[in-house]
Amino acid sequence: MNSAIRKFIFHDLQTVEGYIDPPDALVFLSLLQGQKDRNLVGGIAEIGVFYGRSYFLLRKICGSDEQILAIDLFDIGQTTEGMPSQYSRFLENGRRLGMPVDEELIVRGDSTRLDPAQLTAKIGKIRFFSIDGGHMLQHVTADSRLAMETLADHGVIAFDDTFNPAWPEVTVGVADFLRKSGGAFSAFCMTKYKTYVCRREFHELYTELIAEIGRSGRLRSCRNGVSGLKSCPSSQPDQPPDGLRTDDPVRHERFFRARLSIAECAWPTGQSILRKASGCRNKKAARERAARQKLQ
Ligand SMILES: C[S@@+](CC[C@H](N)C(=O)[O-])C[C@H]1O[C@@H](n2cnc3c(N)ncnc32)[C@H](O)[C@@H]1O
Repeated sequence: MNSAIRKFIFHDLQTVEGYIDPPDALVFLSLLQGQKDRNLVGGIAEIGVFYGRSYFLLRKICGSDEQILAIDLFDIGQTTEGMPSQYSRFLENGRRLGMPVDEELIVRGDSTRLDPAQLTAKIGKIRFFSIDGGHMLQHVTADSRLAMETLADHGVIAFDDTFNPAWPEVTVGVADFLRKSGGAFSAFCMTKYKTYVCRREFHELYTELIAEIGRSGRLRSCRNGVSGLKSCPSSQPDQPPDGLRTDDPVRHERFFRARLSIAECAWPTGQSILRKASGCRNKKAARERAARQKLQ
């Protein structure tokens, strides 16, 4: 990792209001650089810009030659004239960071209404698609379909908030997406906030790229990289309706089941999650260790 990117991830990124944190920034970096090193080409797309924290990270990693298409409603905040201030603050962040926004590639509108051809006409097939827009089931369903239909064969989709109990419908949406793909897509990395998926044929390659981050020791420098639970601003129309409160036991059960099925998709070899998580080689030892841990 060169020192400019390091400084950006551990310092400049925090100056933009938003959510992506250093561990995920390092995953973005490894995946995008790994693709580049292997000549796995394609555009980059993001749903959910907010004030540009993840957008400018992508810009920093990819440089000004690569095409980054970004989609957002841009309806947050208000100026004295009553206009939403989100878009102008996003542009201002770009000027401040010395990475002016390419407005030709910014879509101001509802991602769920976009047609795949609108994206590919602008940037061709996509090699990296970050989904962090609307957090209700209909958004995740529509956004994941859009990503799937525009993705290059070797493309990666990064889903945000996949294990956040405040947004259980994201978890359910991602689990549904993986299940409906019938094994065509599987998860290869899960961080505190995000789940990364790719087509099965590329699972080994991306798993290896992630393992390299562990071996490089980069994550050890993320002392305060992981922040608390994240939620979208309350001004958004994303709040769960009353009937779907997060303390609803049925909803919670669905959330936990969905979490498990995402985890299963991460280990398509059929190895038990219990064994994998415990590091034990056989089922009996894994069960015994889990029972011991429960007693402690
Ligand atoms: C959690 S924020 C994105 C955070 C950003 N990726 C970061 O790392 O800082 C979610 C964004 O999604 C946008 N959004 C919500 N629903 C959307 C929709 N249907 N279409 C497009 N954008 C949407 C919101 O305006 C908000 O800016």
